[in-house]
Parts: sequence; structure tokens; C-alpha cells
Amino acid sequence: MSTNPVLQLDRVTRVHGTGELAVHALREVSFEAHPGELIAVMGPSGSGKSTLLTIAGGLDEPNAGRVLVEGADLVAAGQSGRAKLRRTSIGYVFQDFNLIPALTAAENVSLPLELDGTPARAARAAAVAALEEVGVADLADRFPDEMSGGQQQRVAIARAVVGERRLILADEPTGALDSVTGEEILRLLRARCDAGAAGVLVTHEPRHAGWADRVVYLRDGLVVDESGAALAAGEGVNA
Ligand SMILES: Nc1ncnc2c1ncn2[C@@H]1O[C@H](COP(=O)(O)OP(=O)(O)OP(=O)(O)O)[C@@H](O)[C@H]1O
Ligand SMILES: [Mg+2]
Repeated sequence: MSTNPVLQLDRVTRVHGTGELAVHALREVSFEAHPGELIAVMGPSGSGKSTLLTIAGGLDEPNAGRVLVEGADLVAAGQSGRAKLRRTSIGYVFQDFNLIPALTAAENVSLPLELDGTPARAARAAAVAALEEVGVADLADRFPDEMSGGQQQRVAIARAVVGERRLILADEPTGALDSVTGEEILRLLRARCDAGAAGVLVTHEPRHAGWADRVVYLRDGLVVDESGAALAAGEGVNA
């Protein structure tokens, strides 16, 4: 592909703990996500999917390897550089929504923009536009506990895509939802990628992975092919 990747993982290794308790959560994992692409990450429980996503989102650091978001090295960016990228380039959808209970839907969505210096009025307008995109603009002034699980998840997605975010990371974003609402959430992610973002979706459901352009399979922290055989270190699934 000729476009520059939005996300590049280059031989990313993450070891939790040390000595006898060391767990190799990721072993030299490499892949790229380009504008327009939605990548599904699948694998058994404990295979490293969430670790991969938190590292891609700058919420955790690799022990070895490089992570680039829009060409910026997340480790070299330092704490404040990563925080800035999380406010401007990276949208993260958590499994349990993670909305702030004391803020309305619109306030939850506008918060990252305001933290980045966008004036309140412009941040509110962008938040309402994002809520509109996910079909819940009428809920802008409701608090999370006044919304259903599906509505809260839509607000969480609006928060992840608000502004010009190019990288959308979603960790089982449909976990708590019924299948119809789950499909709608995936349709939204797909539409956002079709509009030029890159997305990485962690999912257990083959049906949901069907929305993706490709699937990265993990087992014991290694990228494997669909048969479960390990791919050579340093090669992504598209190598
Ligand atoms: N903070 C941590 N400290 C120690 N070990 C950890 C930590 N986080 C994850 N691990 C271990 O790393 C491995 C990968 O965990 P991870 O959460 O990435 O798996 P997962 O694929 O997301 O699993 P699930 O499908 O259950 O969510 C597991 O063996 C897990 O126990
Ligand atoms: Mg997980």
C-alpha cells in the first residue's frame, strides 16, 4: 500500500513481571494499519490482545521494539508527547465504556478537546457532531446513568472519534451489548475507517471480525496464522 501507515508496530515485545514470574505477553509482534483499514485482533484469553492495544494507544510501553503513530515514535515522545497524541490522534474505546459519571454525554465527548485547548463552545459543537455521527445527538445532555448500555457505548465511540482522530483502538467494544447493538457499533467503526481512519478491533467473535479487512491472530503473545503456526518474527500477517 502506498499510504503512510497510521500505526506501525515493529517487533514489539512486552514482558510483565521479572524472573520466574515473567510473562511474555507479546513476542516480537509486527504489523501496520493504514488509513481506511480496520484490523481485527483475535486469539484466546491471555494471548496478549489487550496488551497489544494498550501499547498501541501509548497507555503501556514495550520492553523492546518500536511503536509509531502517524510516524511519531511513542517511546521517544515521552510521557507528555504520548498524552498529547492520546488527546489528538488516538481514540480508545474501553470494554466497560469508562464514561465519567458526573459529566453529560456531550461533556464526556468534548473533554479531550478541551484538555487540548479547544475553546468550550467549539469543543461542544464538535462533541455534538460526533454524537450525531453515532446516532445519539438527542442524548447530549444526559448523564451516563440515564442511558442504556448501548447508548453509553455509542457515546464512548463518539469520544474516541471526536475531532480528527486517525487511530481508533477498541477492546471488545461490543462485549456488554446485545447482538443487534453490537453490529451497529461495528458498522460505526467500519464507517469511520472507510472515512480514512485506521482501526484496531479486539474481538472474540468471528462474526465481528468479518467487518475487518484483515485479522491478526495471537497465541501466547506470538502472531500466528489461522492454522495456529507461528509466523517468522518480524513479519506481519501481510508480509
Ligand atoms: N499487569 C500485568 N501484570 C502481570 N501480567 C499481566 C499483566 N497484564 C497482563 N498480564 C498477562 O499477560 C498476558 C496477556 O494478557 P492480556 O490481558 O493482554 O490478554 P488478552 O488476550 O487481552 O486476554 P482476554 O481475552 O482474557 O482479555 C496474560 O498471561 C496476562 O496474565
Ligand atoms: Mg483482553
